[in-house]
Amino acid sequence: MPGGTMVDVCRSPIAMSTGEQRRQTSPAVSAGRGVSLPDGYEPLPHQVAGHLFTNGKLGMLRRCGDGTAVLKPVQRSPKGPRELQFYKELSASQCRDELQCLRPWVPQFHGVTDIVISDGIAERQQTFLLLEDLASTLPHASVIDLKIGRRCWDESASSAKINAELAKYPQQEHIGYRISAMRVFNRTKNEFKYYSKLYGLSLDECAVLDSLHAFFYDGVGQRADVIRNVLSQLQSLREVFLRQSAAHFYASSLLIVYDGGLPASPATVKVKMIDFAHTFLVAGSGEQSLDENYLFGLTHLIESLSKLLEH
Ligand SMILES: Nc1ncnc2c1ncn2[C@@H]1O[C@H](COP(=O)(O)OP(=O)(O)O)[C@@H](O)[C@H]1O
Ligand SMILES: [Mg+2]
Repeated sequence: MPGGTMVDVCRSPIAMSTGEQRRQTSPAVSAGRGVSLPDGYEPLPHQVAGHLFTNGKLGMLRRCGDGTAVLKPVQRSPKGPRELQFYKELSASQCRDELQCLRPWVPQFHGVTDIVISDGIAERQQTFLLLEDLASTLPHASVIDLKIGRRCWDESASSAKINAELAKYPQQEHIGYRISAMRVFNRTKNEFKYYSKLYGLSLDECAVLDSLHAFFYDGVGQRADVIRNVLSQLQSLREVFLRQSAAHFYASSLLIVYDGGLPASPATVKVKMIDFAHTFLVAGSGEQSLDENYLFGLTHLIESLSKLLEH
């Protein structure tokens, strides 16, 4: 692991006081039973949330020795094709202006690749998206995945799905976002701490603020330089969402990445939108409306980070 060891347990005063959870598995273990790792690939070592390539399940990969791209499996229809369509439309040369303004906020899309996957019984082709790796150049990448919006279900969700989502994290309705998972580099200890999905779901509004503080705490002090950089990027993104009505995002995340060992700069602090399995493009004609759900989350996240700087 470049730049430090990994610890699997999230041990901090904040984590413990809010129902600290152990991450079930390290993100970098082999797939075990079920789907096995294809030759020449490894699970994405800095992945924090989402489907992990563990326990025989498909998840994010990267080519061994090649940190430039992450490979995300195209999920079953309709989620996978929907996400692929979004990346394709966004990168198309004839992409309309309203959608184009989202380009700087999304990892670069390098097309798709098919990889032969084996589950020990049969082999099959699995399509993966090739995406810019947002942490590739950062040896001490602290990473947080924040699911944005007061609701995580799209228009097609059944009432059972809506109830399940509401029950999962009722606070999201008023907080407007949630911490899916994070890892934080501590430069005093030279190690990463992981905070799992269960940890994120255990947080009330006050504890969310403490956790954001923990994300920007590098073992020596709070990284105010990084928070300011992130805030300025989030404000620019909000400006985009105050104009664009070309796409609506549900259960999409903001990935914030910074290097815990380097000063804040455009090269060391990244704020990008990821996860478009529930992203819907709005046709050019017809009723246009802002993505109020996403805007609510973004505005509240900006407020939360601003509060961190006040203390
Ligand atoms: N472009 C990227 N660069 C770096 N890490 C990424 C990138 N995309 C995703 N990840 C990592 O993978 C995780 C899961 O990604 P996501 O697209 O949300 O997948 P899922 O559909 O499984 O939720 C994120 O929380 C992040 O840690
Ligand atoms: Mg996700």
